[in-house]
Amino acid sequence: MAEERRITVAVTGAGGTGAAHRLLKVLQDDERVAHVDLLVSANGRKLAALEFGTEEDPESVARALGATASKVRMLDPADLAGPPTSGSYPYDAMVILPCAVGVLGRIAQGLAQDLIERAADVTLKERRRLVLCLRETPLNLIHLRNMVAVTEAGAIVYPMIPTYYNVPETLGELQDELVERVLQLVGLQHTDRYQWDGTGTPARRAHTATS
Ligand SMILES: Cc1cc2nc3c(=O)[nH]c(=O)nc-3n(C[C@H](O)[C@H](O)[C@H](O)COP(=O)(O)O)c2cc1C
Repeated sequence: MAEERRITVAVTGAGGTGAAHRLLKVLQDDERVAHVDLLVSANGRKLAALEFGTEEDPESVARALGATASKVRMLDPADLAGPPTSGSYPYDAMVILPCAVGVLGRIAQGLAQDLIERAADVTLKERRRLVLCLRETPLNLIHLRNMVAVTEAGAIVYPMIPTYYNVPETLGELQDELVERVLQLVGLQHTDRYQWDGTGTPARRAHTATS
């Protein structure tokens, strides 16, 4: 019988919304995933509009992010009464991709001022998997301390840093690997393409064989 996984995805105001597009595509195509709640902050919409060259309204942004399947439901981050505001609402994991360091800071402080921060807070209190895909560099001491705080609370900090050794040639390849690794962290592995086997990764060998 197919698993019925439920995932909450948040897109916040940092570069890298193309990776969120990739993540949403894989989740929509994955038969193990029954439902995806999508939250895009106002600055997340701004970034998606900039990176996809679209309008900033929620419908245009949802289209640009490829969130078209019926199992994806876009929620209003300003509505603190939305379903993931409660631990009684069933979902398995939350991924924030991209995650701005401002959002990291607010999660680290437990502010829960909008539905993204509240859902992250709930994910931690329910001891569910929370993955924060940070996009910032260089990092200041405040960022680093906030990373320690959320890690101590149970979150996984996944900076959007390429592995390099798989030799991505395009932005799409780089995003594919990042998304696959994030999916592994929430128990939704799709491929062994990026697994290190001691002699070189399959992706690396495929690259050198064709170059
Ligand atoms: C055009 C633009 C680009 C930004 N890029 C980043 C970024 O790459 N990384 C980051 O941490 N914050 C970035 N920020 C700042 C965040 O959007 C800001 O801290 C915000 O409070 C994040 O929370 P929100 O998405 O809930 O609004 C950017 C803001 C704007 C307007």
